[in-house]
Amino acid sequence: MHLAFETLTAMSDGGTVVDRGLEGVVVGSTELSRVDGEAGRLTYRGFDIHDLAPNATFEEVCYLLLFGQLPNAYQLEDLRVRLAANRALPPAIVDWMRATPKDAPPMAVLRTMVSGLALFAPHVEDGVHPSNPRAAIHLIAKTPSIVAAWDRIRRGLEPIAPLPNLSTAANFLYMRSGRAPIPEAERALDTYLVLLADHSYNASTFAARVTASTRADIFGAATSAIATLEGDLHGGAPGKVMKMIREIGAPERAGAYVSELLARGERVMGMGHREYNVRDPRAQHLEAMAKVLAEASGTKWYAIARALEDAATVALAEAKPGRRIYANVEFYTAPTLYSLGLQPDEFTCMFACARMAGWTAHVLEQLRDNRLIRPRATYTGPQASPWIPLERRASGKSVATSAAAGS
Ligand code: COA
Repeated sequence: MHLAFETLTAMSDGGTVVDRGLEGVVVGSTELSRVDGEAGRLTYRGFDIHDLAPNATFEEVCYLLLFGQLPNAYQLEDLRVRLAANRALPPAIVDWMRATPKDAPPMAVLRTMVSGLALFAPHVEDGVHPSNPRAAIHLIAKTPSIVAAWDRIRRGLEPIAPLPNLSTAANFLYMRSGRAPIPEAERALDTYLVLLADHSYNASTFAARVTASTRADIFGAATSAIATLEGDLHGGAPGKVMKMIREIGAPERAGAYVSELLARGERVMGMGHREYNVRDPRAQHLEAMAKVLAEASGTKWYAIARALEDAATVALAEAKPGRRIYANVEFYTAPTLYSLGLQPDEFTCMFACARMAGWTAHVLEQLRDNRLIRPRATYTGPQASPWIPLERRASGKSVATSAAAGS
């Protein structure tokens, strides 16, 4: 815990304590999920991720998060039908993607199209969309369709219409390839979606809750969340993990690679977590899946990832003593999703498909007992600046021009 150091360095403005990064600060409550960073335990509404991963489907987890309990058979079928009925995209959204430059990053496309979905969703008179479970299901159902459609469009192929009888995971893979996936692939993706569905007040979920707390609607909150997920300190790491794995090329090169990376002052992507001081509990399930998929497809990605984790764990313990840096959820996401045929720049989109369940559930929870989230900052600028008329200001180059020129 480095709170004491952060706190010490952040005392200012008359002794006000500033917690940079809100590390360890409790800003709200939730019934949705609990992260125990010391024990390495994650639960959704009390259900341990180690029970959910091998047993639950993504649809059951969606129901659990949105409606507060595990569904019975009737409730599950009802949700399944409603998700399937909401998967098709408005034709204008598909046309918009067709008109988008093919080299546009998938996360930028996803963020834009999820925002665009609001234009075609029913709204009340003042233009606000009701934030309710119906809207949540709408977003959970359509997010994978956007990711699958963009995959095909950027490859110069026609998007494929969803199939109502398939699970979320199977339908996503079908919408990319036009073939129903093998059971192992469906199961792996389904488990991935279960594992990534919620994680308490992580940065993107917090962004969604902040947006919702202003009474902006659920589409705006989802768009904020996707934008926040994108960075590599949060959901943007797995593509870079895959880059490392590919650059390493063979398990025996992992040690030297990590040494060189740390010597350059870079971070090992997929390692470390703000909350977990032990290995991320989701990593063991993702690792098992990556291993199975690598064996089935005869690829070397799992073996390299395993060697990389071992090398990075040892090297980081030496380089950052006392920091307790271990594999996080993103680490084995990379070989798992790559083995399922996704490209590295799509990995974070897949994360968004799973987390849309958590984001929307958090938005609904926020609105049940809403209070505007509006923290304070200490002011560190000049105390009183007298007005300077334009003709008396110092001459010089435009700051904007200098900045653009890199000077
Ligand atoms: N590789 C190298 N050093 C790392 C590291 C990593 N993956 N993760 C943390 N550290 C080091 C930092 O450099 C820092 O060292 P310093 O004190 O000498 O400056 C120290 O550990 C603390 O890091 P900090 O960034 O303050 O901790 P945090 O709680 O904010 O870190 C992460 C959490 C996830 C941002 C961080 O571990 C990280 O950047 N990981 C790599 C990116 C990643 O996997 N993102 C996905 C997260 S799920």
